[in-house]
Amino acid sequence: MIKPKVLVTRRWPAAVEAQLCEKFDVVLNKGDVPLMAHEFRQAFMDFDAVLPTVTDKIGVDALDLSGPRTKLLANYGVGYTHIDMPSAMAHGMTVTNTPDVLSECTADLAMTLMLMAARRAGEGEREIREGRWSGWRPMHLVGTKVSGKTLGIVGFGRIGQEMARRAHHGFGMKIIVHNRSRVAPEVLARYNAVQADDLDDLLPRCDFVSLHCPGGAENRHLINSRRLDLMRPDAFLINTARGEVINEYDLVQALAFETIGGAALDVFDGEPNIAQNLLDSDRLVMLPHLGSATSEAREEMGFRVMNNLQAFFEGQTPPDRVN
Ligand code: DGY
Repeated sequence: MIKPKVLVTRRWPAAVEAQLCEKFDVVLNKGDVPLMAHEFRQAFMDFDAVLPTVTDKIGVDALDLSGPRTKLLANYGVGYTHIDMPSAMAHGMTVTNTPDVLSECTADLAMTLMLMAARRAGEGEREIREGRWSGWRPMHLVGTKVSGKTLGIVGFGRIGQEMARRAHHGFGMKIIVHNRSRVAPEVLARYNAVQADDLDDLLPRCDFVSLHCPGGAENRHLINSRRLDLMRPDAFLINTARGEVINEYDLVQALAFETIGGAALDVFDGEPNIAQNLLDSDRLVMLPHLGSATSEAREEMGFRVMNNLQAFFEGQTPPDRVN
């Protein structure tokens, strides 16, 4: 049997690459750099399946072609707003993602950011490395207690729920949820959570607000100056979702004028480029998009992509089909 021809756009864990190469006719991107639009156009003519990830922008320009050979875009990652879905669907492409397997690790990282921001861990680490630490003193880098506080979770899918589990069961936090659809009462009950129908109603009630909603046009600048003004002056904003969900200019203003307590970001609008005034803010913790960056999650993501490929080429509906 002729093996389907598959392009992997970035380097993956070695164990997954090896299995993939046994089952398919695979071309690996040894350079580990994102492909350009014209390279995608060529790839869509040459391969049966393309396996992109979050940093591969597959916009209208990359899909501006006729009669592509590619019929499957099996994304390595859960978010797929980097793919122009109407264009992909116009070409009859099936799109899949990798849900579930990264939820725990991403929630772990959101907790890390929340704790780092509240306890001023980034500032402390910089102080030691720069040789500025002059010893223990009662009022040195005093932060905010996390246990028992109120956490607002925006987007209550798998990752949002893992965040609630950690915060409620581990830290005794009170949980308020905002989600585009109604959350089943039994799901809310697991975390003793309440649902706020309106985001504007959630924001003033929280000590911490953690974003777990999808990115893309529908949520672009969901958090803007008006909504930042609704947050408490001592509250913290955490983002492990997508950079575009926050208007970064407005966030910089809120941090500079101390209308919020601080923020912690794992994702950025236009990453990996970071606006200078974000870099200049001491009240901000920043990590380079590490949400799912554990060897366990990254392997499982790869095997999940492989399941989708296998199902598709056996003529079945892939388990993680999103369109
Ligand atoms: C995703 O899966 O969408 C992340 O951003 C990368 O793990």
